Amino acid sequence: MHEIASSDYSPEQLDAWAPSDLDPALWASRVQGIQPFVALLGDEIVGYADVQLNGYIDHFFVSGAHPRQGIGTRLMARIHEEARLLGLSELTSDVSMTAEPFFALHGFKVVERRFPVRRGVTLRNALMRKALD
Ligand SMILES: CC(C)(COP(=O)(O)OP(=O)(O)OC[C@H]1O[C@@H](n2cnc3c(N)ncnc32)[C@H](O)[C@@H]1OP(=O)(O)O)[C@@H](O)C(=O)NCCC(=O)NCCS
Repeated sequence: MHEIASSDYSPEQLDAWAPSDLDPALWASRVQGIQPFVALLGDEIVGYADVQLNGYIDHFFVSGAHPRQGIGTRLMARIHEEARLLGLSELTSDVSMTAEPFFALHGFKVVERRFPVRRGVTLRNALMRKALD
């Protein structure tokens, strides 16, 4: 993530967003809690993303070692399939500047630009929404 987002955020912002001293057990329990889909390349996990019952996408990440190979698009297609199964009317997410063009390409529109503060550092992201048929 640090590799991919480094052109949009300063090192200070990246460390506040994804701290290198983050407790791996805490992170694992958070990721487990959102029950994500994972993208596999062979037996390696190269991305993951979730969709909650209210249509909120909490996490959406593709490995910095495999950018622009269609992995994000496959995860997004799986989220849309799940949304159809759940009968959801919309998808929403708080999207980083790095991921904004990707979400826009998949039909999401910016609802509000936000400046969340993490560990005392101001970041920038956008609440994005896509209405589903
Ligand atoms: C944004 C992200 C999910 C894209 O994943 P990906 O697997 O590289 O995406 P894809 O290969 O499916 O890209 C499909 C298209 O989206 C667009 N796109 C993807 N990444 C882009 C970027 N960084 N800038 C501009 N357009 C981008 C392109 O049009 C791309 O098609 P192309 O490669 O033929 O030009 C990934 O870069 C990522 O995880 N970023 C960091 C984490 C992050 O910010 N997560 C969001 C938190 S909500």
